Amino acid sequence: MTFEKNILCIGAGYVGGPTMAMIGAKCPQYKVTVVDIDMNKIAAWKSDSLPIYEPGLSELVKTTRDRNLFFSTDIEAGIREANIIFVSVNTPTKTFGQGAGKAADLQYWEKTARQILANSKDSKIIVEKSTLPVRTAKAMERILNGNSEKIHFEVVSNPEFLAEGSAIKDLENPDRVLIGSSETEKGIRARKEIVDIYANWVAREKIIESNVWSSELSKLTANAFLAQRVSSINSLSALCEKTEADIDEVAHAVGMESRIGPRFLKASVGFGGSCFKKDILNLVYICQSYGLNEVADYWESVVKINEWQEKRFIQNMLINMFNTVAGKRIALFGFAFKADTGDTRESPALYITRGLLEERALVVISDPEALGNAKRDLKDFNENLIFTEDPYEAARESHAVAVLTEWRQFKELDYTRILNSMCQPAFIFDGRNILDHRRLFEMGFNVFAIGKAPLKHF
Ligand code: UDX
Ligand code: UDX
Repeated sequence: MTFEKNILCIGAGYVGGPTMAMIGAKCPQYKVTVVDIDMNKIAAWKSDSLPIYEPGLSELVKTTRDRNLFFSTDIEAGIREANIIFVSVNTPTKTFGQGAGKAADLQYWEKTARQILANSKDSKIIVEKSTLPVRTAKAMERILNGNSEKIHFEVVSNPEFLAEGSAIKDLENPDRVLIGSSETEKGIRARKEIVDIYANWVAREKIIESNVWSSELSKLTANAFLAQRVSSINSLSALCEKTEADIDEVAHAVGMESRIGPRFLKASVGFGGSCFKKDILNLVYICQSYGLNEVADYWESVVKINEWQEKRFIQNMLINMFNTVAGKRIALFGFAFKADTGDTRESPALYITRGLLEERALVVISDPEALGNAKRDLKDFNENLIFTEDPYEAARESHAVAVLTEWRQFKELDYTRILNSMCQPAFIFDGRNILDHRRLFEMGFNVFAIGKAPLKHF
């Protein structure tokens, strides 16, 4: 069968995999190939046990795989065949040299660009899917178009706004799709080709076009704004704990204001995930490099409040458990950075676990999807760490339960059974405010939630 377009995606991660599965499903007329340097990941994409957990993803992959969606490790062949190449390789925070700890590490991106150049015999459209610093497209164009042959690469920016756990829903029905290109004739033509892909299922008025820099910066800005809302509410949660105001009531009252809106106002132990911190630090670095130090400081404070919120959570546990957790068994309910995903990148649970281990607690981690990743993240800690899928088992003989991920399962547990199996006095620290605190208190627990007055029996 001949296909209308050959689309390649380099990078079969959280973004590349689901996005291409959706394009494949909605556009049977295109051949979509996903490649990755990681052989194991590609093998998993070809199997019944996909490398990532996302509601609805496996159904989508099953209907499209080997029809017009293919997974492969042959990156070179993929490049040769493709008309359009999405690049979705990772762009982590740089850990070395200039900009370490803030700037984006673009080595994989540049390596990929050179690989595209080395294997291309005709002109192609290159789509930036990875989140990149503003003006990266320019550098990429320079690398790609530095060849003497008569082929041209047009770099288009199409940032991904999907959130984990709802990736399939977000891809199927996005708030908007953003496509940025240079405003030359070639740029506009390339932009239109990408618009045409999404127009197969997304309403035309939701597909926004812009210049390439606006597109790159909009992605960083969107994540910075979302994270800023969480840090804003979390900063006030500390004030609520001092004043008997209740952060959920405040968030509700404030969020009803139509100019503010209710979403991303849920106080928590802190935000995690692969994007928020990375993208804000990246924004901070860019501002600093243009000498905009006030702007940089403003956004950096969003990350600082988040770190403080995580630290505060551990301190609160310590102070209330008589200033010591050494030798005490503590059950962590949840390790993923949010519910409905197995992803643990930048999860507050990681920080809390490390802090409790430093205090010599015995930490028992329970999570329905994230135990594999949790074990990998904590592989350097061999002692005082237990993993179990069963939350009842985790809580047994523990002094405290700390809820770190808002999994629905945790709301539905039999807390009388849990209380009776724990050491007394029993503590609950609800880092996600998902439990019925009054009921737990009446049952006999000492309850500490985020942004609420503590409920204790002593
Ligand atoms: C990536 C970027 O990190 C993020 O900035 C952007 O917003 C979306 O794309 P994600 O899909 O979550 O995010 O990353 P990850 O799950 O780590 O996947 C990246 C994949 O690229 C990995 O499977 C990795 O093996 C692959 N890769 C990396 C290559 O195929 N080639 C390389 O040279 C480097
Ligand atoms: C985010 C963006 O939403 C998405 O558009 C972008 O492409 C990638 O980054 P994601 O990291 O999957 O997506 O998760 P998100 O739902 O935004 O949550 C991020 C973190 O904030 C989680 O740890 C979550 O628990 C926390 N959060 C979110 C809160 O603590 N309170 C809230 O009200 C909302």
